[in-house]
Amino acid sequence: MARFYITTPIFYVNDAPHVGHAYCTVNADALARFHRLDGDETFFLTGTDEHGQKVADAAEKNDMSPQAWTDQTSQRFRDAWDGLDISYDDFIRTTEPRHATTVQAFLQKIYDNGFIYKGTYEGLYCVSCEDYFVADALVDGNCPVHGRPVTHMAEENWFFRLSAFGDQLLEYYQQHPQFTTPDTKRNEAVSFIREGLKDISITRTSLSWGVPVPWDSEQVFYVWYDALVNYLTALDYGQSTSRMDEWWPRSHHLIGKEIIRFHCVWWPAMCLAAGIEPPAHVQVHGWLLVGGQKLSKTMAGEGSVRLSEIAPSALVGEFGTDPLRYYLLRETALGNDGDFSIEGIIARYNTDLANNLGNLVARVAAVVTSKCDGIGAAPVATSALATSATSLVAEAHDAWTTFAPQRALEATWRLIGAANSHLESHAPWKMEPGAEVAAVMAEALEVIRIVAIMIVPAMPTTAQEIWRRIGMAGSVADETWGSTSWGGYPGGHAVIKGEALFPRIRTDA
Ligand code: ME8
Ligand code: MG
Repeated sequence: MARFYITTPIFYVNDAPHVGHAYCTVNADALARFHRLDGDETFFLTGTDEHGQKVADAAEKNDMSPQAWTDQTSQRFRDAWDGLDISYDDFIRTTEPRHATTVQAFLQKIYDNGFIYKGTYEGLYCVSCEDYFVADALVDGNCPVHGRPVTHMAEENWFFRLSAFGDQLLEYYQQHPQFTTPDTKRNEAVSFIREGLKDISITRTSLSWGVPVPWDSEQVFYVWYDALVNYLTALDYGQSTSRMDEWWPRSHHLIGKEIIRFHCVWWPAMCLAAGIEPPAHVQVHGWLLVGGQKLSKTMAGEGSVRLSEIAPSALVGEFGTDPLRYYLLRETALGNDGDFSIEGIIARYNTDLANNLGNLVARVAAVVTSKCDGIGAAPVATSALATSATSLVAEAHDAWTTFAPQRALEATWRLIGAANSHLESHAPWKMEPGAEVAAVMAEALEVIRIVAIMIVPAMPTTAQEIWRRIGMAGSVADETWGSTSWGGYPGGHAVIKGEALFPRIRTDA
């Protein structure tokens, strides 16, 4: 059986989740749901990154202990994910004992392998990034990502010999051309490596909020060196090899483009240093921008973005879980930046959900009720609609397997469009009850059945409701992608006329 292991970044708990985090997590969730539907044994990991200066500062500012603060904020991420129907299989918190154990085992291994040494670190540090910068990289003396002042740091620390891995990494990239996708992001990673790699300070003495270094009780690990290891903690690294053997070769990290260097340079080098294979694949996604600006917890504090308006829970309250998921998946191709706007959500909702999908289901239920005694018939074996369904199903499948939810949904909506055109060209509402109208409706019902399965990854609740309305028993999530082949609608089932699935949002008010 094929396996699929997908991860999101673990999010910092310095503040509440926002729609940028939701974007990444919904995409990972849809990919996980697709792979389950496609028969792959799937493991989906997300979680929270709870150590480091940024989180310690946030706790202090809120007059809480770091642990109490992280307990509270981590729970807000879980709540947000519950509201978005995120089907994670494990949720990791880096303050859990299982994680400290794994970090210590993994870094001890790198130490034992001779890639860690003591030295003095001096440099410019952005607490928001939890990252160092060389003076040349600053913009007007500030961090190039957050536009905030950097601090000068000097400490005696332990260093990772990243510089030893340049050639090995370049070779790895050459032998695994799909290691980082899309290609533009792969090229970015490769040029980081070609520019030459410097050793990295991986511990701190100035901070106690971290995982203790096993060979030096004065130091804790630098937050990134602790965080990346989360992907192994969930596989019991260092405890037993069975889950590592099963899942690690099928690992896919979905990450935002600002953390390419950590995932596509540092992380594979750390893996090589510890004697394990790098992850199988890193899929990079772009940023959601609001009015051209990256959505960030840090920047929102400065008043450039009103975060209260773009908290995932507020959007779910306003538009519903599935419409928000659909928008996040459909609007922007993974890898590109996208504009986030309320107008954009409403436009997608009214056009794709209310007019296209909702209307198809409503029209079919209405005509089957009025002309076919409410009972659907089985479709003919072949037809023009059957042919387009077969090719669009294949296109969507290809898109899902290549990390392109947007393209998958676009193909799915072309099938919905084909069914609507089928209805318009036959105008069954003008027909007399009888075999002809039953045959026209049977094909439409079959498309609806197929579409219900195809939207399981994106809109699980809607998929189930549509399934029920066309008289199908059981759970659509128990179907397989393979059951999208034409001809599965059994006929003889009562079709249910219900409320509009997606009542139009009025914009003229
Ligand atoms: O970097 N648009 O955590 P983080 C799209 N803890 N995605 C966005 C986004 C936006 N405007 N803003 C954030 C960290 N994201 C580390 C990761 S992993 C071992 C450690 C998403 O809380 C995107 O996926 O800053 C980005 O990479 C992630 O949130 C960063 O979250
Ligand atoms: Mg960040």
